[in-house]
Amino acid sequence: KTGLELSFIKSSFHNMPCVAAAHFLILYGSQRGQAQSIAEEICQQAAERGFTADISCLSNQDKYNVDSEIRPVVFVVSTTGDGDPPDTAQKFVRKIKNKSLPQDHFSSLHYALLALGDTNYANFCNGGKIIDSRLQQLGAKHFYATGYADDGTGLEVVVDPWIEGLWDALKKTFSSMATSNQQGTDLRDCIQDNYHKTASDQEKNKSDLEVDLHLLKLSEVDSQKGKTITSDSSDAETLSTTLVASLKQSVPPLSESALNVPAFPASYLEVLLEQAPKEGETLPSDKDGYREVSISKAVQLTQDDAVKSAILLELDISEQNIAYQPGDAFDILCPNRASEVEELLLRLDLQTQKNCAVQVNLLKNSSKKAAKVPLHIPQNASLQFILTWCLEIRSTPKKAFVRALADFTQNGSEKRRLLELCSKEGSADYNSFVRDANVCLLDLLRAFPSCLPPLSLLFEHLPKLQPRAYSAASSSLQHPGKVHFVFNVVEFPACPEHPARTGLCTGWLADHISSILRPPGTVPASEHLGTSALPKVHVRPRPSSTFHLPADLSVPVVMVGPGTGVAPFIGFLQQREKEREANHEGTFGDTWLFFGCRHKNKDFLFREELERFAHNGTLSHLIVCFSRDEPDAVGTINRPTYVQHNLRLHAENIASILLKDKGCLYVCGDAKNMAKDVNDTLLEIIGNELQIDKLDAMKTVAGLREEKRYLQDIWS
Ligand code: 2AM
Repeated sequence: KTGLELSFIKSSFHNMPCVAAAHFLILYGSQRGQAQSIAEEICQQAAERGFTADISCLSNQDKYNVDSEIRPVVFVVSTTGDGDPPDTAQKFVRKIKNKSLPQDHFSSLHYALLALGDTNYANFCNGGKIIDSRLQQLGAKHFYATGYADDGTGLEVVVDPWIEGLWDALKKTFSSMATSNQQGTDLRDCIQDNYHKTASDQEKNKSDLEVDLHLLKLSEVDSQKGKTITSDSSDAETLSTTLVASLKQSVPPLSESALNVPAFPASYLEVLLEQAPKEGETLPSDKDGYREVSISKAVQLTQDDAVKSAILLELDISEQNIAYQPGDAFDILCPNRASEVEELLLRLDLQTQKNCAVQVNLLKNSSKKAAKVPLHIPQNASLQFILTWCLEIRSTPKKAFVRALADFTQNGSEKRRLLELCSKEGSADYNSFVRDANVCLLDLLRAFPSCLPPLSLLFEHLPKLQPRAYSAASSSLQHPGKVHFVFNVVEFPACPEHPARTGLCTGWLADHISSILRPPGTVPASEHLGTSALPKVHVRPRPSSTFHLPADLSVPVVMVGPGTGVAPFIGFLQQREKEREANHEGTFGDTWLFFGCRHKNKDFLFREELERFAHNGTLSHLIVCFSRDEPDAVGTINRPTYVQHNLRLHAENIASILLKDKGCLYVCGDAKNMAKDVNDTLLEIIGNELQIDKLDAMKTVAGLREEKRYLQDIWS
């Protein structure tokens, strides 16, 4: 008999009386729902494979006890911020990090861990790694090799095969348990042995250095995702017929067997619409720590013919008592577009019920474990409010959502295509036509007119509306009671899958500041407008733990920030300018800024202010390059194009600041290309200076990171 066939086995291990065979525990730590949905996917597949699993969020510490767990445990852990575990895992991490725990504290724990991360950011998968390495230190054993999934290239590339391999590892683990019981061998040895058989060499103990090397490789093959500005969208009518071609067309059609995607369990939520209308709701100002503040100023920083338009916003935070340091960021929460909410209501045939109060209940007989009403959906709010303020309706539907939508699609060929998109064989189509095309629910509903999902499905699958973080571009020493931000209006060009549109947050901001927006070069007179006339926005501070100026003014600093990446450095320099004014006698370390833009006369952001800093000595070196100006406009033929070319020209100074003078290097801006190229250049500079090979240069750079002297504030 195999372990799976036994319903209960008696374990001789650690005097635990019984282990239900094929029963394991899934624990997830999720920030934005990805780890949770993968954990749920594992739970669902477990049932299909003859296992049973309990599932719990790591934050529900009263629901599980890893300290005495004898079942195998599967962790799914995402990464957030600067390589931190997600908020929901923080308590758990604090608990296992407790220094008083003995070295064998987890010696009876057998686990597998799937770490989620994004190679566009430093500290790839660090959330999972922190938990993994601490569990190892305390004696826990892997029964399956840790998986490292990369959101930068598509989580499923690692997640799908990892889950596929999990079943075999679990099966072996359970049968080892049975065998060990029969033969009296130590269960731990069996599981260890099993681990070594299942772990691929590549996945074993992936060190930070290897991850850096992986990053390096990625940067070589990374292709640019085109996000250029194109014409406005045409009207929705004509779009719906032409847009959806690639979404709808299978190339080539899949076989019937490939389409055999397991049925999605019926929704575990019940949504009731009460007729009592709700009107005039506004976001409670303290919800999740947000405050509603006025936008007191908005200036266009770029000329009208610039490739991307950059806008400076000034928020009046004088009444909210919000303190910040240059280098900190703020979360801005913008509602979904009214036109998209309306279209969704219309499409779901719910337009007449938009003001109804919504009740969300858990269905009693749900097969789903650990199901709960999503916390981000308030009870008794109106349907329109929930779609506007609570759900990320622009999010890209995950495969599980697509699968569930197929169940509510009448037309046979539409249903078939949806099944294709979420089948294993249809992964490439899903990636190119759904994920990479930034398709949202509305796009799918336009493409598949016979799909009519119930609200419960939307509430189950649409994630919480997320804020967007922007770095402060000011110092309160120079602008008391105010904070500045800079942003580019993000444009998604029309493509076969959807019409042209602007980014949710930057598009909303651009629309709502039109009444106060000043053209480039003008000094806006915000005093003329009463505050009641000013647009308002919901913000909350998001302090950085590392991205700050060194407290010691004599430490030299190098800042690299092309485009809107210059934002935090404007804050740094405003602060430094004031500190210099207050402390004439002090020693100030050299201060370098490497800035880059496309055209000197179109998008040289903060030109006057930067020239002032250079003139009065706040900046000792202002080094600017223009990527798209003709040579005559700049005066040199072989001029540098990008910030890293200028870094290379000043390699000796940079190396000496970092290696001799204990200076700091800050990089802000695009993660996908710029930050990687700058990192490569840094490796080259350090390698040349110290006459060491790339691997040793990487170690030196890792050391700078660790000492918090190489800091990044980057985004993709
Ligand atoms: P480009 O658009 O002409 O290629 C701000 O966005 C500036 O950063 C622009 O001048 C842009 O140039 C430049 N840029 C684009 N890719 C870059 C990269 N990989 N490294 C550094 N700068 C880059």
